[in-house]
Amino acid sequence: MERLVCVIIGYLCGLFQTGYIYGKIKHVDIRQMGSGNAGTTNALRTLGFKAGFITFLGDCLKAVLAAWVARKIFGVSCVDWMPLLIMYTGLGTVLGHNFPFYLGFKGGKGIAATAGMILAFHNTMAIIGFFTFIITVAITRYVSLGSLLLMTGFLIEVIVLGSRGVFHLTQPYLYELYAVSFVLTALAFYRHRANIIRLVKGTEHKLGQK
Ligand code: G3P
Repeated sequence: MERLVCVIIGYLCGLFQTGYIYGKIKHVDIRQMGSGNAGTTNALRTLGFKAGFITFLGDCLKAVLAAWVARKIFGVSCVDWMPLLIMYTGLGTVLGHNFPFYLGFKGGKGIAATAGMILAFHNTMAIIGFFTFIITVAITRYVSLGSLLLMTGFLIEVIVLGSRGVFHLTQPYLYELYAVSFVLTALAFYRHRANIIRLVKGTEHKLGQK
């Protein structure tokens, strides 16, 4: 039951589509422009730096907010497995961001929202994720590749840190944590399937390219 409540809290927070709302204020539908994605990269690409920055901030902070709400509600009753609840809340946020019901389930790819969840989940993982993303994008100028490596690193870190007892979870909860992390990572790859095809073909848009 707590898991479901966390997913719902996350989904509701995830519905706040920063890029879409920013675009609407500017009288455009960001989903009809550029890559058609309602996320940071497309906001940056089509509406400029300020739009990209605000979109990232909003999409990231909604995941932090969702985790904060989950902690407030379940902080005492679920203290033994809080990392797992944060992960479920993050999954809900990504689902709300990627599949907003009021926009015909056509949202973003969930990377900024996942970044926010990682920030609420574990500081060191957030720092590793930040550098993985920044270094990849600085070298290749492919934001999608940075996003996919960030997600792959996230899954590996959860398993490595989890197996070392960093999350203080008993075994059933730990395996569940691995499973939810896998679902989050698989979801990111699924949402990036068109990007992956373009990366393989060498036709993916580079940062700074219109
Ligand atoms: O987080 C989204 C990014 O990885 C790719 O965005 O607009 O280039 O498909 P886009």
